[in-house]
Amino acid sequence: MSQYRAVKGTKDIFPVEIVSWKHIESVIQKVAGLYGFQEIRTPVFEYTELFQRSIGTTTDIVGKEMFTFRPEENGRSITLRPEMTAGVMRAFIQGNLAAAAPVHKLYYIAELFRKERPQAGRQRQFSQFGAELIGASSPEAVAETIGMMMQVFADLGVTGLRLRMNTLGDLDERMQYIRALKEYLEPYAAELDEPSRERLDKNPLRILDSKNPEIQAMIAGAPKLRDFLGVSAIEEFEKVLRYLDEKGLTYVIDPLLVRGLDYYCHTAFEVVSPELGAQDAIGGGGRYDGLATQLGSKTEVPAVGFAVGMERLLITMEKQGLLQHLEPGGPQVYIVLQDSALTAHAVTLCDALRKAGIRTLMDLAGRSMKAQMREANRISAAYALFVGESEMQTEVYGLKNLSTSEQESLSIQEITRKLAPSNSAQ
Ligand code: HAM
Repeated sequence: MSQYRAVKGTKDIFPVEIVSWKHIESVIQKVAGLYGFQEIRTPVFEYTELFQRSIGTTTDIVGKEMFTFRPEENGRSITLRPEMTAGVMRAFIQGNLAAAAPVHKLYYIAELFRKERPQAGRQRQFSQFGAELIGASSPEAVAETIGMMMQVFADLGVTGLRLRMNTLGDLDERMQYIRALKEYLEPYAAELDEPSRERLDKNPLRILDSKNPEIQAMIAGAPKLRDFLGVSAIEEFEKVLRYLDEKGLTYVIDPLLVRGLDYYCHTAFEVVSPELGAQDAIGGGGRYDGLATQLGSKTEVPAVGFAVGMERLLITMEKQGLLQHLEPGGPQVYIVLQDSALTAHAVTLCDALRKAGIRTLMDLAGRSMKAQMREANRISAAYALFVGESEMQTEVYGLKNLSTSEQESLSIQEITRKLAPSNSAQ
């Protein structure tokens, strides 16, 4: 019979990898706490209209990448979340958080789903950590959000990342620009490649993002978004940049940076990792002041946020050698039995030690003493506890420190005193 395999574009995360995930998650939690972001969890699926309305029907995500289904015949269509911002904003409005405080800082570590062609750093189920600052999008709010993202990278030791910054102006300014861009590109329609031709009608801004050198050459002569922006949009952006300078963050201004989701206005940003191949964006975000009203809020709610791909972060850290030193915490004690007739006694010892808060394991497969010792070393147990007939009688056991090979004879009370969390650094 053929074996079952995980669905294309999904991955199992085994215990050896969990150590790296936990390490990253703990740094995220620490930094989020420093900046006053609190965790939010929202459902894995939402009504499909939520994503259509927020991300935009002409985007790649909504156009072709969503996992959508109808649980009931003729029922409402549901979609596995392809990103978090829409769901978080929906929760913010539905939970009436605005009534409690004007500004909310929320973060998440969550699984997302996009029906993309799987390749290195691109999966159909992937994870993001992200943050949404809802209720303010002043330059200091934008800079603080970017600052928190960059601090996570810094605290993880990641180097060589490039922060790309741009401003998209407000909706009117952008619409005018899109018209001008379309007018400029239409005469070239026949020369455009397939994806860009498709975008010309639906989402011309995204053509600016093309990696095709011929398209890039064509775009070089196109009207510039900057020329369509009013003084206030430019001043706002410059303030953001000044704050980034003050924080000591380096960035490049990239006038061609447009994001793949429709809800952005003014500042947009992306972080690129040198360790990733074609899919080199490790994170991105921006301001999205119009989203709340689009999703039914009666009042305008300024907001700014970002999300970072956890798998791409892991690939980057792996390549920079930042994960090797992480080791799963082995047990403190591995009980080594001389004879399987003593198993019942070992079960009791295990219970006693665990009750005292000591991480304890014993053999569960009737293996030889030699095999048990090998196992204790393999799982990096700190101590081996030898149990034989005479130990059972005297209730004094050999406790061997597996890194120094020193051995002591101790009662269970003495072992507990030595190893229990409140008494030792173990
Ligand atoms: P996004 O640029 O679509 O933005 O995704 C953010 C990050 O998620 C990307 O830079 C990438 O690292 C990762 N990512 C996206 N798709 C995949 C995939 N198929 N496989 C692996 N990683 C992937 C957003 O999702 C916005 N919600 C960010 C945001 C938050 N904007 C405001 N607030």
